[in-house]
Amino acid sequence: MNFKEFGKTGEKLSNLGIGTWDIGNNINENVESIKFAVDNGVNFIDTAEMYGTEPVVARAINGYNRSDLFIATKVWPDHFDHDAVIKACNDSLKKLETDYIDLYQLHWPSKTVPIGETMKAMEKLMDQGKIRHIGISNFSVDQTKEAMESMNKYEIASNQVEYSMVTRDIERSGLYDFCRNNKIAVIAYSPLSHGKIFSKKKMIEELSKIGASYGATASQMALAWLMNRDNVFPIPKATNKTHMKENIASTEIRIKPEDMKKMDAMEAKYYEDSIASRHSSN
Ligand SMILES: NC(=O)c1ccc[n+]([C@@H]2O[C@H](COP(=O)([O-])OP(=O)(O)OC[C@H]3O[C@@H](n4cnc5c(N)ncnc54)[C@H](OP(=O)(O)O)[C@@H]3O)[C@@H](O)[C@H]2O)c1
Repeated sequence: MNFKEFGKTGEKLSNLGIGTWDIGNNINENVESIKFAVDNGVNFIDTAEMYGTEPVVARAINGYNRSDLFIATKVWPDHFDHDAVIKACNDSLKKLETDYIDLYQLHWPSKTVPIGETMKAMEKLMDQGKIRHIGISNFSVDQTKEAMESMNKYEIASNQVEYSMVTRDIERSGLYDFCRNNKIAVIAYSPLSHGKIFSKKKMIEELSKIGASYGATASQMALAWLMNRDNVFPIPKATNKTHMKENIASTEIRIKPEDMKKMDAMEAKYYEDSIASRHSSN
């Protein structure tokens, strides 16, 4: 397993984290799957009050040294009022059966509660030692700036956003560069585009071709492409153990700069292909 610094927090996280949204109802299987990841070096697990998977994470991490793990969870916007944030955090601590959360994230920006009010509560939780870092999720550049400006004592550690070889919006919007310049870690959710990457046949073919020289599959190359970028931590979800093994093995792949360039260009290339095929079928 390879580790890298999480933004400017000084924390060393495994290049790959474990996503726990939509992991299905087989609790024993889910617990075993997370344990397998931890036994193989993953120290970063992401959940959220909204996923209902905090108790699954609690069961999975039971028995491990808590300080070896980095547990991230999220508060849902319905709970962004000051007192509701405090309550939601206490509830998450209970469900996670832990004394502290390593990264507490605002799941989505709120349309109603001013960010200053929410961040006041987040900073209070930091002061109380209930959370160790503050993160945001699904925040644009402007919303991230606003969140940064609303903090009095602490800094934003990370922004969790959708990012994959087929979903590159954060590059176009400038969010990727903004986070990198400000050393805000990017947690890449849906790094396999929620499985949709496998329907992009041409991209998968080309990824497999490049992957052959690394002994890697297309999905491993797609994850490695994220891990080989500055400051980015993908959190794939895998309920299937073969997938989990494959994803963990991808952390060892060091992609050569010339292959990174080819992979960087793929989305635009296949976007053009899909336009061309639409025109030719007209
Ligand atoms: N902050 C937010 O708003 C937000 C939003 C969405 C997601 N997330 C987080 O991001 C995590 C991951 O995103 P996601 O679940 O949307 O999608 P994802 O990780 O991009 O894709 C998951 C899908 O890919 C399959 N898969 C995983 N590894 C594979 C492999 N090696 N080969 C082939 N298929 C593979 C999984 O199948 P199996 O399950 O059968 O293994 C599943 O169908 C979530 O669990 C959640 O923690 C956060």
